[in-house]
Amino acid sequence: MKYLSVAQVSKKWGINERRVRALLAENRIEGAIYEKHKYMIPSDASKPLDRRIKGQRCFEDSPLKSVNIDFKNYRKLYPSIDGFFGRYGGSYLPKELQKAMQEIYAGYLTIAKSAKFIAELREIRKNYQGRPTPVYHCQNLSNHFGKVQIYLKREDLNHGGAHKLNNAMGQALLAKYLGKKKLIAETGAGSHGSAVAMSAAYFGLECDIYMGAVDMEKQAPNVDRMRVLGARVIPVYEGTQTLKEAVDAAFNAYAKEYKTAFYCLGSAVGPHPYPLIVRDFQEIIGREAKQQFLDMTGELPDIVCACVGGGSNAIGMFEAFLEEPVNIVGVEPMGKGKEIGNNAASVTFGKETILHGFNTLVLTNEDGTPANAYSIASGLDYPGVGPEHAFLHEIGRVKYETVTDDEAAEAFFLLSRLEGIIPAIESAHALAYAIKCAKRMKSGSILVNLSGRGDKDLDFMISKYPHYLKR
Ligand SMILES: Cc1ncc(COP(=O)(O)O)c(C=O)c1O
Repeated sequence: MKYLSVAQVSKKWGINERRVRALLAENRIEGAIYEKHKYMIPSDASKPLDRRIKGQRCFEDSPLKSVNIDFKNYRKLYPSIDGFFGRYGGSYLPKELQKAMQEIYAGYLTIAKSAKFIAELREIRKNYQGRPTPVYHCQNLSNHFGKVQIYLKREDLNHGGAHKLNNAMGQALLAKYLGKKKLIAETGAGSHGSAVAMSAAYFGLECDIYMGAVDMEKQAPNVDRMRVLGARVIPVYEGTQTLKEAVDAAFNAYAKEYKTAFYCLGSAVGPHPYPLIVRDFQEIIGREAKQQFLDMTGELPDIVCACVGGGSNAIGMFEAFLEEPVNIVGVEPMGKGKEIGNNAASVTFGKETILHGFNTLVLTNEDGTPANAYSIASGLDYPGVGPEHAFLHEIGRVKYETVTDDEAAEAFFLLSRLEGIIPAIESAHALAYAIKCAKRMKSGSILVNLSGRGDKDLDFMISKYPHYLKR
């Protein structure tokens, strides 16, 4: 009998060595032997069937069993022509602004089919943003928990340090096509604000960023970044002085300037066509990640997860996996607890309401008005959620789970210590969910969208959680 080494088999089967070793550890390669500290694999051994692709699912309650939608055609069906995902979405705006949305939609439909636009965006993504971003296997973190393999889609390595630039560059291109001179945007964590400021610099546009005064203090490095990039950062002092109020202020400014300015919305929220446009620009995350994961492991992940604020990094990650037998999980911020005002878990606790011009699940007060949202992560404390998430929750295709501030903080410091990667506190929510799974599952793989890097959070996290630092 002729035997091959792990390296030779890895080459022969087109999967990485780590994956071959994992298959060996699971006793899934027939005839393999371990001798003198080395694995030997019969040369005629066949590659084990991919459990995921063959439809054996990790969890018995795999959502694809109960959903009656052809996900191969999902993108063509949702949203509808007037921007609805089921009953969520749409556009509820004054007549003047409705016209502005129609102009944006018509412009978008034109450029989305234009070979010139597609080529320009591709070039920007490759040479300016540095895409594709890699998928990384967290070996130390996985070993720390023992049984589950954790992988990260490294959107923190996208230029600017977060996924937001995927969307900002696309929308800025659209603004240029529409002949607009200024970009107006809201920002919570400052990641979207920085991305818009970069896009404005790249395309030679003016840039006004609205940001809650509380967030400006919490995310000071990003405020400096936006200013250095040439943007005007306008503090918002209303209400809780965070993301919702920043959206209100940015939208009010846009209502006055829509003839010459473009509203660059940072998440998969807002009136139609924004949820569609943002999804389309962020979809690159999941498309790349799916292929990269398959190339690395030969299989699909058991679970794909991402944090959900408005929902842009999550929808970008999920879209490519909707048609696959993969468990998909959106992770919402439970903040300090379940009471309204202490969290920003809009899918988990929200009621159907119109907010910022679209119908979705919103955290509300007893009188039905939008409630204050809270999360340690400035990018997640929005009282609503993108309409597509409300829909995917309703049909049961995506599960929405929660993670508290403290759980996210633990994940923030653990990834930093074990892998040398400091995640954005937003992304640490998704990671914290993966860690919970890693503690409970006996085997399997989890692909986490690491939506951004955590440099912006260092001062705040160190002052709030000093006990994680070595003395
Ligand atoms: C790094 C990072 N991840 C996630 C988010 C949440 O936004 P979304 O839900 O649109 O991805 C933000 C928002 O600012 C962010 O900065």
